[in-house]
Amino acid sequence: MQPILNVYSLPDVVMPEKVAGDTAVVIDVLRASTTMICALAAGAHEVIPCREVADALVAAKSFAPDQRVLGGERGGARIEGFDLGNSPEEYTPQRVAGKTVVFTTTNGTRAILRVRSAREVLIAGFVNVSAMVQRLLDCRRIHILCAGTGGRMSEDDVLLAGLLVERLQRQARSSWRKNGQAATAQNFWRQSLASTPGSAVQPESQMLIEWLRASRGARNLLRLGLDRDIQAAAQIDRFACVPRFDPASHCIRLA
Ligand code: MLT
Repeated sequence: MQPILNVYSLPDVVMPEKVAGDTAVVIDVLRASTTMICALAAGAHEVIPCREVADALVAAKSFAPDQRVLGGERGGARIEGFDLGNSPEEYTPQRVAGKTVVFTTTNGTRAILRVRSAREVLIAGFVNVSAMVQRLLDCRRIHILCAGTGGRMSEDDVLLAGLLVERLQRQARSSWRKNGQAATAQNFWRQSLASTPGSAVQPESQMLIEWLRASRGARNLLRLGLDRDIQAAAQIDRFACVPRFDPASHCIRLA
């Protein structure tokens, strides 16, 4: 049977039963998925995604205080009483190595929980795009879910979805059956490349920083003076790891 490759530009447009038993990929480039990848690459033992702040506070109680880090944001800012916010660079080996990160964000962690009926949920960013493509090449039924921003589509996520579709199409042995949003995301990626003067000679991540700055997901970050987080999210292939959420254990670890 032809393998399927679907993209959903927002969590609300995917029905949980549609992904049941399949592989889901969650994207929140600015910033939740980038930050979770950084945390695990920095040696965090696991990340526990929580929907609400209250859920995170309850989950944190299961761990000794020196064994866990509470992280996340509301309105882009660190939550009162939490150890860390949602900036990728905060999640250093000194802060998180060997620890459980209990994590809640406005859109990203909710997107993960939206597709927990999947067999597995992989966490994608530009920072691990090549490793993600390699991991997905053997999958037969893939659903890529963009977290969006405040219930609206965000270009940072759709760009990465488009790049994943582009690379999977180029590298897979057989052709994918794509939904309409997969084709739209792929076109968005291609048009962004085509409409950037000198894109063939510019370092890829410099070009990406400009595109990410122009996205809906960047607006609040720029207001908060967090341009460095946008730059961190644009570091293509900084890591070769693939975080995997296991719905049975409810935690994200490196696959
Ligand atoms: C989210 O999950 O809503 C985002 O990561 C927001 C943010 O950039 O902090």
